[in-house]
Amino acid sequence: MRIRSSSVLRLVLPSLLVACTPAQAPRPVPTVRAPVLPAAAPLVIAHRGASGHRPEHTLEGYTLAVQMGADFIEPDLVSTKDGVLVARHENEIGATTDVASKFASRKTRKVIDGDTISGWFTEDFTLAELRTLRANERLSFRSHAYDGQFLIPTFDEVLALADSLGRTRGHAVGVYPETKHPTYFRGIGLAIEEPMLRSLRARGLDRADAPVFIQSFESGNLRTLSKQTRIRLIQLVSTAPQVTPAALRDMATYAYGVGANTRQIVGGDSSAVPTTLIADAHAAGLRVHVWTLRPELVFLAKRYGGDPIAEVHEMLRLGVDGMFGDYPDQVVRGLRR
Ligand code: G3P
Ligand code: CA
Repeated sequence: MRIRSSSVLRLVLPSLLVACTPAQAPRPVPTVRAPVLPAAAPLVIAHRGASGHRPEHTLEGYTLAVQMGADFIEPDLVSTKDGVLVARHENEIGATTDVASKFASRKTRKVIDGDTISGWFTEDFTLAELRTLRANERLSFRSHAYDGQFLIPTFDEVLALADSLGRTRGHAVGVYPETKHPTYFRGIGLAIEEPMLRSLRARGLDRADAPVFIQSFESGNLRTLSKQTRIRLIQLVSTAPQVTPAALRDMATYAYGVGANTRQIVGGDSSAVPTTLIADAHAAGLRVHVWTLRPELVFLAKRYGGDPIAEVHEMLRLGVDGMFGDYPDQVVRGLRR
C-alpha cells in the first residue's frame, strides 16, 4: 500500500488532538490544518517528527508532524538496558535530554562503531530511569521553548500514536523506523530487530502493503530482515560506491528503496547538475527517498538562495519518491505549490 497525501480526509483535522504522554495528564495540542497535496506528490516523511518545531523524537513532535500533513513519522530506534526500544537518534542522549543534570555520575565513555564517545547511553539505563528524563532541543539555533517538557517515547508508543492519529484523520499514518547501530546493539545482547518486528507484528503491520518502511545504514541487518519480514526496507546510503548502478541492482534484491542524502542527488552548494542516482535507482526498481530537507542556512545549499521551497521543488522536479524534512509543513507547502 502506498499512502497518498491526497485523501480528502486530509483536508480537515479535528480541532483538538491529544498528545500521549504516559507520565503526564493528556494535554491538548493546538490545531493545525493539514493541506491537500497533489495525488502524484512524493511522500512527506517527518524527520524525527516535526523536529524543526519541537524537540526531536517526542510524541508531541510526531503529532504536530501529522497535523502538518506528513505521510510518515520517523522514529530512530535504540535499546534501553532492559531491552525496550525507544526513539532517539543515537544511544548517547546527552545532547537531546536533561540526563546530565539528573544522572551526572552515570557519564561514561564508549567506542560505538569506531567512534569514541563520552556521555550517557540508553543501554545503561532502564526504561523506568529514562522515564524520569525530558527531551531537549539539540540545536542551539532552534527554539528551546519546549525543553524539559516531553518524555522519551517507546517504539510501541509511537506505533500506538500513529494508529490513533490515523484513525482520527481517516487514513493511515505511516511509521518509518530506523535501526541505529544495529550491529553494536546486537553485540551487547540488545538487538533491535527482533523487538522491532514483534511490535510491528503485534499491530498487524508485518505486511508488504503496511504503512511502514524499515531503514538502516547497515546492509547486513536489512538483508537478514528481508528474509524475516515482508515490510518494505530502505537502504540508507552515504557514499558513492553504494550507489553505482551495480550496487543499486544488488540493493534491489533485498530493499524496496534507497535513502540518500540530498547532496547525492544534486551537486553541492553551487552545482545544479543532478547525479544519475535517481535514474539508476529507478532503473533498478528502487524508490528514492531523500534526507534531510532543512531550511536553516547552515544546512540549505547556497544555490537555493535561502529559499527552502526551492529545494522541495528541485527534488520534486528530479523525481524523488519521498522527502525527509525537519519542517514537514514546509515540504507540504512546497509540494502544494
Ligand atoms: O533516516 C534518514 C535520515 O534520518 C538519516 O539520517 O542521521 O538523521 O538518522 P539521520
Ligand atoms: Ca533517521
